[in-house]
Amino acid sequence: MDNECLRRLIVAAGGGVADAEIAVKEIGPDAVVPVLLRELLERADFGGVDTTATVLFELDDQCWTITAAGFAPGRTDCEVTVRQELWDLLRGVFGPAAARTNCTRSIRWPDSPAVGRDSAGRFGQVAHFLHRLLAGSTAAPVDLTELILRFGSDKWGFHHYTGHYARFFEPLRDLPLTVLELGIGGYGSPTSGGGSLKAWQRYFHRGLVFGVDIVDKSPLDGQRRTTRRGDQSDKAFLDALIAETGAPDIVIDDGSHRCDHVIASFQHLFPRLAPGGIYVVEDTQTSYWESFGGSASRLSDVDTSMGYFKSLLDGLNHSEFDPDDFTSTGFEKQIAGMSFFHNLVFVQKAVNDEGSLPGFVAGKPIA
Ligand SMILES: C[S@@+](CC[C@H](N)C(=O)[O-])C[C@H]1O[C@@H](n2cnc3c(N)ncnc32)[C@H](O)[C@@H]1O
Repeated sequence: MDNECLRRLIVAAGGGVADAEIAVKEIGPDAVVPVLLRELLERADFGGVDTTATVLFELDDQCWTITAAGFAPGRTDCEVTVRQELWDLLRGVFGPAAARTNCTRSIRWPDSPAVGRDSAGRFGQVAHFLHRLLAGSTAAPVDLTELILRFGSDKWGFHHYTGHYARFFEPLRDLPLTVLELGIGGYGSPTSGGGSLKAWQRYFHRGLVFGVDIVDKSPLDGQRRTTRRGDQSDKAFLDALIAETGAPDIVIDDGSHRCDHVIASFQHLFPRLAPGGIYVVEDTQTSYWESFGGSASRLSDVDTSMGYFKSLLDGLNHSEFDPDDFTSTGFEKQIAGMSFFHNLVFVQKAVNDEGSLPGFVAGKPIA
């Protein structure tokens, strides 16, 4: 299913029951069921559980068999049956927390000695598998660090970024966001990398995730996960990208880490970020490395990434300056906040046009 259609489903899942029902009807149950089952499988962490179970999903008049390896239409000898109305599973998978009630779901176990009722035997194995499978349709908390480690990104371990990310992103998790990351990972190998894209895709269960890399990473494409090949400093490429993605809500720069690239990408993409959006730059240690265009001595040089971002700070208080004394960076009215951490910068986009206190408070002469 293409991104436009996925977005329609996701938005409908955040509306009322009727919105979800209409979307299922218009897009077609045959097309919707595989999208939802694929999400459940991709979201599931089967680590440590037996993965040989077969589960039957009865969704309206659709019947699908799912195993850890995949799913197919049709009824086979399954060890457990999940019955649910399709609009309800749609809300469970793509809805915000309050909509993920799965209120029409029932789980039926066969009356068969093969599965039995022994939690230490086959019944327990299938129950564990089913629990992990259905976890992707619940509002249970998601541990970003665990996701980053599971999917193989270096955002925790080598670096320690996930705590900061979780603080900024947790309040946004329920929104149908567009997330764009520069730098997919895996460098020269088209089939390697994608760890953070997969983690964002799982973390933002209603998000569309886009990744850019200088190397073709299309083998890593997936549902709600789109890769594009291009140079993060190429303005024409970025324009074409944004025409496709729409205004991103989150941009993460984890690409070349060259200072000129970091600055060029920010200058081009920040104005195209959605209002209320967040722009993140990782690995700012390269700001001090000559080999990346940085310097450990010219700390305020705006050609280095840290020097550049620091130069934007006074703009937060632009309205406190006499206009004749303030040189515009072009960004001061769109940056509402900046946060600096070890090798990591967050820039928050919102209108910054509050104005200062009345002049008499500051003891200025009254005109
Ligand atoms: C550190 S890795 C990204 C890791 C990934 N974000 C993660 O957390 O799993 C950096 C990636 O940026 C890519 N890259 C290097 N120069 C680039 C450029 N100019 N434009 C876009 N991507 C670039 C590299 O090919 C590499 O795959």
